[in-house]
Amino acid sequence: MRIVLLGPPGAGKGSLASLYDIRLGIAHLSTGEIFRQEIARRSALGRRVRRYVLSGRLVPDALVVEVMAARLRRARAAGFVLDGFPRTAGQAQGLDRVLARQWRRLDAAVYLISPQPLLVKRLSGRRVCSRCGANYHLRTMRPKRAGRCDRCGGRLTVRKDDQPRMIRKRLAVDRKAAAPLVAYYRRRGLLHRVNGVGNVETVYRRTLALFRRHRWLPS
Ligand code: AP5
Repeated sequence: MRIVLLGPPGAGKGSLASLYDIRLGIAHLSTGEIFRQEIARRSALGRRVRRYVLSGRLVPDALVVEVMAARLRRARAAGFVLDGFPRTAGQAQGLDRVLARQWRRLDAAVYLISPQPLLVKRLSGRRVCSRCGANYHLRTMRPKRAGRCDRCGGRLTVRKDDQPRMIRKRLAVDRKAAAPLVAYYRRRGLLHRVNGVGNVETVYRRTLALFRRHRWLPS
């Protein structure tokens, strides 16, 4: 299965993609996660993307496509779910070129629909593991032990771009880029909209039903 998971910040892309990875063995590739790791390592790439990520702006298309082309070459045979990429119509065209060079193509672009007040609630309550990057929420996805990751015991922290002012900015940046991106996949006949309201299990089951209906899952 080869899909891109679309939707605004807080739509639940990362939470769902991590379940596909754990339960279905489908590689989860997240541009946001890649950039945060590179920033933490202070690598050359991290230094190039830092100012964009920390200010809630988009990293330039050419750089994002170059980074993802390298990661996609190494993706597992079972397929991949792209989370947070593409973010613009330019990146979507770049992704198509990269996949065509690798004799691959996308099965679908799945867009998660959620109302803005819900997105703000999810982002302002999010906590992330400082060691493995796993996602939690103060109310809806609590860890078993307060402040500690269930998977690795790492300390849970607030993402720098989850401050109220930054949340508003990221949502505005996304609104501008999303319309041409969604139109691109609609024109190509790949767009599927899924209701993103409900707990993670509910939304997971909705998407799984879609994958099964279209026989995208690896056998
Ligand atoms: P990125 O990390 O991709 O951030 P984002 O798109 O803003 O998405 P989020 O991670 O905030 O939201 P999500 O939809 O994954 O929700 P999540 O599952 O975490 O990008 C960060 C930055 O990197 C960008 O601002 C940009 O600078 C740069 N960047 C990244 N990709 C780029 C690209 N392609 N081009 C240019 N620049 C790029 O859930 C959020 C919270 O809600 C969690 O606490 C979770 O527990 C909870 N939750 C999720 N689903 C549910 C549910 N169904 N019910 C209850 N709670 C839920």
